[in-house]
Order: sequence, then structure tokens, then C-alpha cells
Amino acid sequence: MEISSFTIILIIIFVLLKKLIQKEDRIHRINKNIPGPKSKFLFGNLFDLKGQVHEKINEWYEQYGSIYRIEFGSVSTVVLSEYSTLKEAFIDNGEIFQSRFQRKSRTACNKELNLANSNGEYFNHLKKTLANEMTNQKMKKKEKIIKRQVFLLSEFFNEISQQSPTNSGGISKEPINNIIKMYSLNVMLSLLFNIHFPYNSNSYQEELIITITRYFKSTGLPYPSDFIPTLYPFLKNKPKEYFEDYESVKKLITKITNDYQINHMLEINENSTIEDIENYQPKNILESLLKQYKLKNISYDGVIGSLMDLILAGSDTTGNTCLFSIVALVNNSNIQEKLFNEISNAFKDEDENDIDNENLNGANIITNNSSSLDNLSYFSDRIKTPYLVAFIKEVKRYYPSAPLSVPHLLTEDCEIQGYKISKGTQIIQNIYSTHLSPSFCSNPLEFYPERFLDSNNEPKIIPFGIGQRKCPGENIFEIEIYVFLVNLIKKFKLSHPINDNYQLNDRGQFGLSLQCPQFNIKVESR
Ligand code: HEM
Ligand SMILES: *[C@@H]1O[C@H](CO)[C@@H](O)[C@H](O)[C@H]1NC(C)=O
Ligand SMILES: *[C@@H]1O[C@H](CO)[C@@H](O)[C@H](O)[C@H]1NC(C)=O
Ligand SMILES: *[C@@H]1O[C@H](CO)[C@@H](O)[C@H](O)[C@H]1NC(C)=O
Ligand SMILES: *[C@@H]1O[C@H](CO)[C@@H](O)[C@H](O)[C@H]1NC(C)=O
Ligand SMILES: *[C@@H]1O[C@H](CO)[C@@H](O)[C@H](O)[C@H]1NC(C)=O
Ligand SMILES: *[C@@H]1O[C@H](CO)[C@@H](O)[C@H](O)[C@H]1NC(C)=O
Repeated sequence: MEISSFTIILIIIFVLLKKLIQKEDRIHRINKNIPGPKSKFLFGNLFDLKGQVHEKINEWYEQYGSIYRIEFGSVSTVVLSEYSTLKEAFIDNGEIFQSRFQRKSRTACNKELNLANSNGEYFNHLKKTLANEMTNQKMKKKEKIIKRQVFLLSEFFNEISQQSPTNSGGISKEPINNIIKMYSLNVMLSLLFNIHFPYNSNSYQEELIITITRYFKSTGLPYPSDFIPTLYPFLKNKPKEYFEDYESVKKLITKITNDYQINHMLEINENSTIEDIENYQPKNILESLLKQYKLKNISYDGVIGSLMDLILAGSDTTGNTCLFSIVALVNNSNIQEKLFNEISNAFKDEDENDIDNENLNGANIITNNSSSLDNLSYFSDRIKTPYLVAFIKEVKRYYPSAPLSVPHLLTEDCEIQGYKISKGTQIIQNIYSTHLSPSFCSNPLEFYPERFLDSNNEPKIIPFGIGQRKCPGENIFEIEIYVFLVNLIKKFKLSHPINDNYQLNDRGQFGLSLQCPQFNIKVESR
């Protein structure tokens, strides 16, 4: 009796194992005709994917072309590069390429309930809710929120510029990276919760930015525990820091969200009927999410997880792009002068000093004070500054802020560029090589905004990814970077702390978003 049940269990295990292996075999069998580097037992190509992952991916691109195969542990992975190949997959076959590839380390944090990691019907609903709130029209109305942050940030630059008694400008005491990231974080916080942090280095804020940066860097790296199922039990919850960082940001966002509900959504309470809730008109992105939660269409974890997506994705990518744009200005003083002339002609003597002097201590509730700023839009007038518009495109091309996008999962067998790819394959959008290969444009390694001035002949960049999963933050980003640069360039001359013959290092460090190296800067008032 005992022996026979033991045998049955053995048979069941055997059948399950065989099924599992067969399933994997099927993927590898189908994908094996796709070219790519040799891979090692168990680990595949993981050992080559440490550190500067995007540079290795680019090397393989140069060797194997616009479609190649690598192994992330036992996960068969196909890397797609160049616009035509990416279009064939993510647009012509969009439906089967739209799913997110789930990594255990992320799933353990967000339970796949957030925007960036969910799939299927749940994802579609969440995406629709957010996309409705983040349209071009709605984001344009938020320009004054962004402008307010830019003006507060310029006060910080002003302080640096006044450090020298001889009026010849001043040099930042510390690298400005965290302060610039505070700008993009504040834009998201004020957009979502109507709060922001002051622009000084208070230890709590500094720690928050450092945590977000560290989390964003590590969430892009391929961890062995995500790709080698046999090792998972031993590597579970490692690296520890990654999970601690996630939890500490989650704690903050949960607190701010709870506070918001208590203070701002009084109309909906435990006595509200479904009808009351359905009739409630959400005033912003956060309220839209909370409304869907109250309607039981998404879970509270989904609300918090999606807010975290917006805050993390929204601040680190944008912050690094703002930083790289400063590097490009410093490294190319002729471009900076040209931009200064264009901007000061386009936007003459508008009043900018009309912000309230708030009590800048910890996170502030933003006062709702209307001023002449409200009626002034730089962004709607960007047609007046064609060179700046081209400069921003070149920054997005040259420093692709999400170099390998966010991994996808192929959900049906498919043929791309004549190669058959199996369902179940992890798919990587190689934005980095797409923007920087000679097949994209001439002299791709030269920083040259002029290439975007001929609108009939403009190269097609894809910094926000491509297809149904494309970044929902594009509209807000475009306003953030434009208003940021208009103000900074108009008011200040930025240069290398030593002298104009020196240049700033611009070799990005790999992460889910490409990290700009730390730098100090010299600031002179114009
Ligand atoms: C320089 C700025 C930015 C760049 C280069 C960028 C790039 C990207 C890329 C490449 C993706 C993946 C697309 C795909 O999987 O197909 C993505 C996804 C995402 N981005 Fe951005 N992004 C930027 C700014 C923002 C901002 C400001 C926000 C928030 C307001 C944001 C929120 C998100 C979210 C929530 C996703 C996940 C979307 C999904 O899974 O469907 N991003 N972004
Ligand atoms: C909900 O209804 C109960 C009973 O009528 C009442 O005591 C309570 O104060 C109400 N709560 C709110 C927030 O209005
Ligand atoms: C959201 O919830 C409401 C009420 O429970 C329901 O009528 C509606 O169909 C749901 N919407 C979606 C898109 O699931
Ligand atoms: C900035 O300077 C570094 C170091 O000289 C150089 O490698 C890089 O190409 C420069 N970047 C730009 C955009 O000019
Ligand atoms: C802020 O101003 C808007 C319109 O100017 C008004 O509808 C809203 O009630 C104000 N909010 C607060 C908190 O004063
Ligand atoms: C705007 O803010 C200032 C100072 O913070 C205050 O004195 C003034 O009354 C406010 N104006 C309005 C319209 O709320
Ligand atoms: C903004 O413009 C509107 C109408 O265009 C005007 O009524 C309002 O007074 C203006 N506000 C400020 C602060 O200039």
C-alpha cells in the first residue's frame, strides 16, 4: 500500500519534470536557429551581463545584428535592435509582444498588481485609467506645477552663482546630481499629491533620492535568482538591499496616499454607495486610481504599486536626462551660447519671481496661490525655439535614459526578420544600439542637434520604447525637460569647475535608467 502510493508520487514527479523540461526544450529548440554567442551550462550568458550591461548588449549587436539570442540562465532571450526590426515585432505583431516578462525579484515586491508589471485584462484597465489622466491636453495644464519647481530649483542655482564675491560665478560644493533628481521627484510628488521637498540637502531627502537611485539601478540588473529556478530557494530575497529599498519607498508612498484620502477625498467615505463613487469626478491621477480601488476594480496594492511606478520611473529617468543635458551644455559651450541667444530672443523679460516664500521644512503642502505664472506657457510656444527642440531630441537619442527598455514576454510563436521565435521567450528592446549605431544616422557618436532640424528627414528615435507598452510618461517628460532648460539656460551660464578646456565625463552607468556620473558645476548668472 505504502509502496504503491510512493510509486504514484514518483511517477507524478517524473511526469511533471518531463513536462517542464519539454516545455523549456521546445523554446530552446525553436530559438536555436537565431544567431548569438555561446552560453554556459546553467548560467547561460549571465556572467557577461554584469556591470555595463548595455555596452555588452551593444557589442553583441555589432557582432550578430538586429536580432540575436542569449540565455539569461535558463531563460531564452531575444534582443531586438533597429527601428525596422522593433517595428515588425512591437507594432506589426503588437498583441503578442505586449506582455511583461515577470522576474521573481519584482513579483515578490509588487505581486504583479502595479502598472509596469501586470498583464492581461487587469493591466488594460489600469493602463486605460492612467492614460486618460496623462494625455497631452491634461499634462499641458500642469505646466504651472512644473514651472514652480523649476523656479525653486533656479533659486538653488542662484545661490551657487553668488558664492563668489567677484561676481564671476560660483562652484557647487557637492555634485548636483541629487538636487536635479529632487526636481523630477518633486514634479511627480506635486502632480500626484500636491506636496514637494525643498531644494537643499537635508539628510532625509538625500537618503530618499539615494534609495530611489539605488533601487532603479539594481532593478535593471539580471539577478541569477530570477533566471535559474534551481537556485531560487537559496537566493530568495537577495540582494537584501534591493528589497529593503523597495519597502522604504513603499512605506513613504503608502503614508502620503493614506493622508491624501483622509484630507482630500472627504466626499467618499464608508457610507458611499457604488453610485456615489461612480459619480465622483477625480481631480487628478491619484484620485482616478483611488476611485477604481473603491469600485473594487483594482486592489490597494495596485494603487500603491502604480503610484510607485510613476514616482520611481518618473523621477529617475527624467532626472538623469536633465543631468545629461547639462553635461552636453557644458561639453559644448558653442551649443550653449546658441541656445542662450535663441531662448532670450523667444522669451523676453517675463516675470518669474512670483513664487511664495514657503516654509521649506520637510515636505510642504503647496499653497494654491494664483500668480502671473499661471498664464504663461513656455511649452506651447516651443515652436519659437527650434534649436532647443532639436537639442532635446539629440539628448534623448545620445543618452537613451532607458537603454534596454523594460523586458517583455512573447506570448505566441512568431517570425521576425525571417527567424522563428518561440512563445515564452524574453524579449529585450535594445534602444541603446538603435540610437547609436551607424545604421541609425551618420556620425552617431557625435553630439549634433542639427541632425533634427530638417523635419522632412528626421531620424526616428524611440527613447520611450515602442508599441502598446510604450512609456505613459512621455507627455509630462517633454514639458519637464523643456521648462527646465528654458529657465536654466536663460538665467545661467554653466561650465566645468576648472575651466572651459575641461569636459564632464558622460559615460552612463547601467541601470533600468542610465545613470549620469556625479559632477560639480560652475554657475554664473546671466
Ligand atoms: C526620460 C524620460 C523617460 C524615459 C526615457 C522613459 C522610458 C520608458 C521605457 C523605455 C519604458 C518601457 C516601454 C516598454 O516596455 O515598451 C517605460 C515604461 C514606463 N514609464 Fe517611462 N520613461 C521616462 C519617463 C517617465 C515618466 C516621467 C513617467 C511617469 C510619469 C514614466 C512612467 C513609466 C511607467 C509607469 C512605465 C511602465 C509602462 C507599462 O508597463 O506599460 N516614465 N518608460
Ligand atoms: C456613516 O453612517 C453612520 C450611521 O448613519 C454614521 O454614524 C457615520 O457618522 C457615517 N460616517 C460618515 C463618515 O459620514
Ligand atoms: C469597475 O467596477 C464597476 C463597479 O463594480 C463595474 O460596473 C465596472 O464594469 C468596472 N469596470 C471595469 C473596467 O472593470
Ligand atoms: C563630454 O566630454 C567627454 C570627456 O571629454 C567626452 O567623452 C564626451 O563625448 C563629451 N560629450 C559631449 C556630448 O560632448
Ligand atoms: C485651488 O484653486 C482652484 C482654482 O483656482 C480651486 O478650485 C481649489 O479649490 C483651490 N484649492 C485649495 C486647496 O485652495
Ligand atoms: C498668496 O500667498 C500669500 C503669502 O503666502 C498670502 O499673503 C496671500 O493672501 C495669498 N493669496 C491668495 C489669493 O490666496
Ligand atoms: C490669467 O488670464 C486670465 C484670462 O486670460 C485673467 O482673467 C487672469 O487675471 C490672469 N491671471 C493672472 C494672475 O494674470
